[in-house]
Amino acid sequence: MAARPVRWRDGTVLILDQRRLPAEERYVEAREPQEVAEAIRAMAVRGAPLIGIAAAYGVALAALRSRARSRAALLEDVEAAGRLLAGARPTAVNLSWAVGRVVGAVRAALPVGLEAMRGAAVAEARAIAREDEEACLAIARLGAELVPAGARILTHCNTGSLATGGCGTAQGVILAAHREGKVAHVWVDETRPLLQGARLTAWELRRLGVPMTLVADTAAGSLMARGLVDLVVVGADRVAANGDVANKVGTYQLAVLARHHRIPFLVAAPVSTLDPATPRGDAIVIEERDPGEVLAPLGVRFAPEGAAAANPAFDVTPARLVTAIVTDRGVAGPPYRSSLRALLEGRAGGATGWPGAAGQGAGAAAAGPGAAAGPPSERAATAEVGR
Ligand code: MRU
Repeated sequence: MAARPVRWRDGTVLILDQRRLPAEERYVEAREPQEVAEAIRAMAVRGAPLIGIAAAYGVALAALRSRARSRAALLEDVEAAGRLLAGARPTAVNLSWAVGRVVGAVRAALPVGLEAMRGAAVAEARAIAREDEEACLAIARLGAELVPAGARILTHCNTGSLATGGCGTAQGVILAAHREGKVAHVWVDETRPLLQGARLTAWELRRLGVPMTLVADTAAGSLMARGLVDLVVVGADRVAANGDVANKVGTYQLAVLARHHRIPFLVAAPVSTLDPATPRGDAIVIEERDPGEVLAPLGVRFAPEGAAAANPAFDVTPARLVTAIVTDRGVAGPPYRSSLRALLEGRAGGATGWPGAAGQGAGAAAAGPGAAAGPPSERAATAEVGR
């Protein structure tokens, strides 16, 4: 796999420009927080955990570049950069979460002095990156336990090392299951309009040697109807307190199709993607991007001049369509309000009942009272009956 897509080097941030992939692997160097914010907005860097990491380094840049001579003035500069970075994209909660952590670390170091404030910013951003790498490993390990042998898995968008600080979320699950010999095949949605599936997931899975086939987003229903999909695994940009999941547009229709065909629908995300402050999915701000991305995907125009287009970048999948949410702290199942709260509070809620649950380690035992029960196929059937 390529080197990390976001790196801190000698007081600058190196960002792999994902808009150029897979044709070209080119890093851009950001020296100012504004440049990081622009890279996030323009999606040179993307994926919920990774934009959090990039923004965290962006705040660190603000601390280093500030010419403030007083601690209060330095904090003001850092807070202003934090607002800019957090506002670069609205849907992924990881962005404001990571910015809040770094700004908080700078504020906490204020009594010590200017250099301590700068050092705290860099250290906190590095810690966020390191923790996300560990979170990905935990998600991969826990999620792989839920993958049945010989699974044909369908996934959407890109959730791998190009979207995170580690091996990925949904894609980390797929990779871990593949390494355990459980993955027969992966169906990769191309993911219109920016083609993260076609350009990024296909690129990553091929490099990793995972058997995959790219399909048009619109092929998912017929694949399911033909019995060619055993499991859907996707990532998330924000999970509301009740378990509603915001993710790349197209995820919701997959969840509806999966329910219709009694196929388990798994969401994989670190706890940094959980947003207990947002009660339900309808309160999540969905990013509306430039209609030009739909009219002329990747710059190739095929809509007639004058045609109108809408470009919501995400959608919300209601919790009732989600079989389980795999986090780095454990697997949550319905009812999500209590199971997610238990994960966030670090409460152990007992074994999940999923296959392999008995083998889950300490970090995996936090699933709450509503923890998922039964293997994927059983759970789907139970959910179907209970509709
Ligand atoms: O618009 P993007 O490419 O940033 O959207 C990415 C997704 O929707 C991913 O599924 C999500 O961020 C999870 S990434 C681990």
